[in-house]
Order: sequence, then C-alpha cells, then structure tokens
Amino acid sequence: MSRIRAFLSVSSVVAVWAAVTTACGSSSDDKGNSEAEEEREKARLYYVERVHNAIGSCVGCHAGASGPRFMANEPDDSYVALERAVGLIAAPKTSPLVQYVHRDPAVVINPEQRSVITQWLSLEATARKLEGAVEKPKTITEAYKQFADCMNFDVWTYYRMGDLAFSQTDLEGPCMGCHSTGQGSAWLSAAPRETFEKSRQFPFIQKLVVGQLNDKGSFEALQPSKRFAAKADEICPPESTSCHPRFGLPPNIRDAIDGFVDTTIQNLATGTCANGIVVPVMDAGPKDAGDGG
Ligand code: HEC
Ligand code: HEC
Repeated sequence: MSRIRAFLSVSSVVAVWAAVTTACGSSSDDKGNSEAEEEREKARLYYVERVHNAIGSCVGCHAGASGPRFMANEPDDSYVALERAVGLIAAPKTSPLVQYVHRDPAVVINPEQRSVITQWLSLEATARKLEGAVEKPKTITEAYKQFADCMNFDVWTYYRMGDLAFSQTDLEGPCMGCHSTGQGSAWLSAAPRETFEKSRQFPFIQKLVVGQLNDKGSFEALQPSKRFAAKADEICPPESTSCHPRFGLPPNIRDAIDGFVDTTIQNLATGTCANGIVVPVMDAGPKDAGDGG
C-alpha cells in the first residue's frame, strides 16, 4: 500500500503545481507564438523543479558514472543534456526514458519516477507537438469525454472501486442504500459494472475528476476532484438539520479512488488506456529500505 500512496502523492502535487504556474504565468499580449513558448517553458520548469530530484538514481549513473551520459548533476544542465540526446524527449509511449529496460535487472524505474517522467514528457509532447502527443482537450466537456473513454474496468476492479458503494455511514447504512440510482450526483450501487458505467457519465464523473481553468478562464487540465474524501471530511455545523449522514472513509477506500483516478490520468497521457495498469505495483517482494513497515 505504501508504494501506491507514495506514487499518488506525487501525482496530486502535479495538479497543484500546474495550478500555481498557471496563476503566475506571464500574460503576454502576443498570442500564438508566445503561448507555445509558455508551454515549452512550463515543460522545462517541470523537469527542473519536479523531475530532476525524483530521478536522482538515474542521474547518479547517467551524469557520467555509468552508461550513456545524457543527464547532468545540475537540473538546468541535465535538461540541456537530455534535449541533446536524440529521441529521449518524446511522447511517453515511445520515450526510452520510461520504456527502456536495463540489461541489469536490478536497475528499474520506480512508480514515482515513472509517474513524474510521464507527466513531464506529456507536457513536452504537447508543447513540441510531438508525434503521439495526446491532443489537449479544448473544453471541459471534451476532457471529461477523454477521461471517460480512458476509464478501464480492469483498473476499476484492480483498485476495488466496487467497495466504495458498500462503505458504511456511522448510523445510516452503506452508501448504496441512498445512492444506488445516483442521488446527489453520486452513483454508488451494488453492481460494480453499473457504478463504473455511470461514473463515466456526467455529472457522476465529477466525483472523480474536475476541470481546472487557467487565469484566462479557459480549460487547462483535469485533476482528481477527491469529492468522496471531501464529503467524508465535511464538517456539519451543529445547528444544521440537513447534513449528510456522517461517514469516515477508510484509508484503503481513499487510496483506491486516488489510485484509480491517477492511473487513468496517467494512462491517458501514455496512450495506454486499454492496457490497464501501467505502473507496476510491488505488493509482493522486498520493501524499500526505510519503508517503516
Ligand atoms: C546503476 C546505473 C544506472 C542507473 C541507476 C540507471 N541506468 Fe540507465 N543505463 C545504465 C547503463 C549501464 C546503460 C547501458 C545499457 C544497459 O546497461 O542496459 C543504461 C541505459 C539506459 C538507457 C538507454 C540509452 C540508450 O541510448 O540506449 C536509458 C533510456 C536509460 N538507461 C534510462 C535510465 C533511467 C530513466 C533511469 C532511472 C529510472 C536509469 N536509466 C537508471 C545505467 C544505469
Ligand atoms: C441516508 C442516505 C445516504 C447515505 C447512506 C449516503 N448518502 Fe451521500 N448523499 C445523500 C443525499 C441526500 C445527498 C445530497 C445532499 C448532500 O449533498 O448532502 C448525498 C450526496 C452525496 C455526495 C455528493 C455531494 C457533493 O457535493 O458532491 C457524495 C459524494 C456522497 N453523498 C457520498 C456518500 C458516500 C461515500 C456514502 C457512503 C459512505 C454516502 N454518501 C451515503 C444521502 C446519503
């Protein structure tokens, strides 16, 4: 579990980061060209600020210690080196940075690294209009449709999303008791397949993802909405008579939702919607040192 969680927290940082840079992005009057430049710079900054540190193990070898030298110790230099190496900055589904399998089986890319590199390469692919780039949706409606089309029932099952409907409220029974036909725009019924299908549709899909707007008010990106967790954490004022039944969503259910949403967002970026799980989750096998159990 802890591995899944670590990988998730990285992805949620991504959304926040994107929001911040958008807010601070200089608003230039010269449209078109400058917008493309902004996207390029955003992708570069993403590498410098988020990816470089996360892939310290790769840098450890590829800055000159072992293997081909296409990174450097300083983030800015490393970016330049990566740009110079032919074929590395490519759409995630083709870039060796996420696809390469080392001869030495002990050298592997971990889920967190895969996640940030994928996010970064997606930004690059879009900014540079590289082949295989997932076209950025222009509207929220289009983005929901992309996400819905990428939702995969195997991934849903893998994360046990069906369990959510059976979660208990403190005093008023499981969610499906009230939400089995979509009350409050939350569809949670006993049949996982049905809940899955409904969750692909508006408005139910909003319980999973929400569109984020940039400072000009146009669509920027989809991000996890965490609506179910927020509902559990909602505070009911004592004087209120119309509060939602209280429930504490257990950590495994929160992780399941985050896992499903993040995996789907990642699959969308890597063009692997049909394959299901792209991030190997190591439940079995040795734990990381310092995992703390
Ligand atoms: C222990 C040292 C070491 C680490 C750690 C390491 N690599 Fe490598 N890498 C190598 C060596 C050596 C090669 C040469 C081919 C081989 O051994 O598979 C290589 C080859 C590659 C190649 C193929 C380059 C080409 O031109 O064919 C890519 C891409 C790559 N590594 C990416 C990474 C990424 C990304 C990471 C971090 C997740 C990483 N490596 C971590 C040593 C390492
Ligand atoms: C006794 C009936 C009942 C049960 C049981 C119940 N709900 Fe609700 N739920 C409602 C009603 C009524 C609304 C619409 C009013 C509101 O938002 O409080 C709602 C709304 C919601 C919303 C939408 C709120 C929003 O703003 O997005 C979510 C999410 C939700 N419920 C989650 C759950 C979950 C998860 C469970 C199980 C742990 C659950 N509910 C159990 C009656 C119920």
